[in-house]
Amino acid sequence: MSRSVVIGSGAREHALAWALSRSGDVIVTPGNPGIAAHGFTCVDAPATELDADLFVVGPEEPLVGGLADRLRAQGKVVVGPGSDGAQLEGSKAYMKEFLAAAGVPSAHYGAFRDEALAIAFLETMQAPYVIKTDGLAAGKGVLVTDDFDEARRDVEDKLRGVVFAGAGSTVVIEEGLKGEECSLTVLCDGTKAVALAAAQDFKRVGDADEGPNTGGMGAYAPMLRVDAVLEDELMGMIIAPTLRELTTRGIDFRGVLYAGIMLTPDGPKLLEYNVRFGDPETEVLAPLYGSALFDLLYGVGAGALTTTPSTSDFAVTVVLASHGYPASARHGDLIHGLGTDGQLAQHREGVTVFHAGTRRDADGRFVTAGGRVLAVTGVGSSMALARNRAYDAAALVTFEGRVMRRDIALAVI
Ligand code: AMP
Ligand code: GLY
Repeated sequence: MSRSVVIGSGAREHALAWALSRSGDVIVTPGNPGIAAHGFTCVDAPATELDADLFVVGPEEPLVGGLADRLRAQGKVVVGPGSDGAQLEGSKAYMKEFLAAAGVPSAHYGAFRDEALAIAFLETMQAPYVIKTDGLAAGKGVLVTDDFDEARRDVEDKLRGVVFAGAGSTVVIEEGLKGEECSLTVLCDGTKAVALAAAQDFKRVGDADEGPNTGGMGAYAPMLRVDAVLEDELMGMIIAPTLRELTTRGIDFRGVLYAGIMLTPDGPKLLEYNVRFGDPETEVLAPLYGSALFDLLYGVGAGALTTTPSTSDFAVTVVLASHGYPASARHGDLIHGLGTDGQLAQHREGVTVFHAGTRRDADGRFVTAGGRVLAVTGVGSSMALARNRAYDAAALVTFEGRVMRRDIALAVI
């Protein structure tokens, strides 16, 4: 029996715990009340004080802060890069410089601290304008707009620290890329890399991609457009040069390279790297790989990836967010339709409910406690079946002001 520790507190960590539990015990730190209700031990202790065969770091902040380095210094097997590799996500300016050095195709860009230089560069660009903060901004530091004046104001606000104080002292201005987006989750053991099924994330809050960007309102996998030929191309054009550049820089990257890729008419281009599992992508990937995940992740951490991931199923996840999301998030709304284990009160085949932002009230009932509240995942032998399962189940889980997209995976069934 193995024991795994998962670090984090959202639906991504719930999904990882659920899959790793197929192979043994799982502890989540700190976890959340929905993860605990589902039978996983949640402890509020630093990971460095826990003992396990495998440590999986969920979010990016602790990786940027060197948690994986501290755990490795204790001799532990860890999924997640050290603070050196985590810079790929921690600084967009670093990432862009890295991609240029590696020869990975990505958007033309400039990085600026000086406002006048930034505006002068912006004036040379064409719509859509893409403005990013340099540092970690929880996925919300990106503006994509066709309106030049809005773009200019955003550059000013970011450089003057009006928004994202600290994170915004450098702005990155990028060429706007057009096409379909794809999330490629690549497991990397320091020298070898294997891809999990390509997933699509729905970032805008509203149907048909209307409204502001969010942390992600749903996802599905596999993305059929990414067939074996295209996957080989992505691995050859994007991942292989990245691994070579990591080696050149002396970075032993043992973790998840999550490539956000735009499939443009001129070929695939990398939008960004994240150095951890995606959220909500993990809520579809973890159920697809299930009991294989422990061996895969242990191989990543141990520098000895030997298994090749495969799946023949389909998965769709629908995020239920709270009233006002993403601008604000109302807490305390009573959630109907969940049992005491935090899963559907009325059992449904092929469905799991992953908790992102819930807590229990004085009577033990689940209430909303975050922007993204739950991710409801359906798995099946076809995309249509997975999608029907996810939406049938989501309809059973209700709360005041619930925000949910109706078109996750609609275009691919
Ligand atoms: P990021 O935080 O870099 O993932 O950006 C968030 C979202 O903004 C991406 O998923 C894209 O939808 C969009 N985006 C980022 N960079 C670009 C770009 N250069 N061109 C078009 N859209 C972009
Ligand atoms: N799905 C977007 C992210 O995890 O950053």
